[in-house]
Amino acid sequence: MGIDSIRRDYEQGSLNRDQLTDTPHALFEQWFAAAIQSADTPDPTAMVLSTASATGRPAQRVVLLKGSSPEGYCFYTNYNSRKAQDLDENPQCCLHFAWLGMERQIIIEGTAERLTDAENDAYFASRPRQSQLGAWASAQSETVASREALDQKFAEATTQFATEAHIPRPEFWGGYRIQPLRYEFWQGGRARLHDRFIYERALSDQGQHLWSISRLQP
Ligand SMILES: Cc1cc2nc3c(=O)[nH]c(=O)nc-3n(C[C@H](O)[C@H](O)[C@H](O)COP(=O)(O)O)c2cc1C
Repeated sequence: MGIDSIRRDYEQGSLNRDQLTDTPHALFEQWFAAAIQSADTPDPTAMVLSTASATGRPAQRVVLLKGSSPEGYCFYTNYNSRKAQDLDENPQCCLHFAWLGMERQIIIEGTAERLTDAENDAYFASRPRQSQLGAWASAQSETVASREALDQKFAEATTQFATEAHIPRPEFWGGYRIQPLRYEFWQGGRARLHDRFIYERALSDQGQHLWSISRLQP
């Protein structure tokens, strides 16, 4: 079978204006709860983070959602990694949830801010010890000579903290919150007539944040 003949129909559901919540975060929470329940969505917290350098060079990678609120969506990483360098020089970024088993995607555009030391410490302390040691061992996104060299760094971290009940957070490790400015909710439809709704943040005359809603052609 040729690649060009691989196709399937999208017919699990539809998305209509009367199903939309006033705020996009409420709809995100509804869809996220459904994704957690769905056997077709094995990694519901996995999201693609797109960044761009100051010169506009794009890059993408999967990260895991670790916090969700109307204020934004959080993930954790190494503050010296490529993504962190991008976000620090250009906070504009995009998150993409591809829940294809449910024939859904959510795209969230926004701006990134670093989490506070207190937030970072609290989450780091909740991680399994092996993951904490891994954070110390990995200079994420830098080259490493071999797998053995990486394992050696992990062994050194294990020795360094062998007598410590509590492993401190490396100062080069922490999280970001993506503050949302625009959402797209996409539900696959028959004949490729998919449902797409956009929420865009706007300011009311009174200076309050409002969400405008529009339907896009598929
Ligand atoms: C399922 C999955 C989950 C991941 N979760 C994270 C994460 O939460 N944080 C992180 O820094 N990298 C995570 N990664 C690794 C990133 O995709 C990426 O390889 C790494 O962060 C380096 O990216 P960068 O060089 O663009 O900064 C994950 C990868 C996969 C496939």
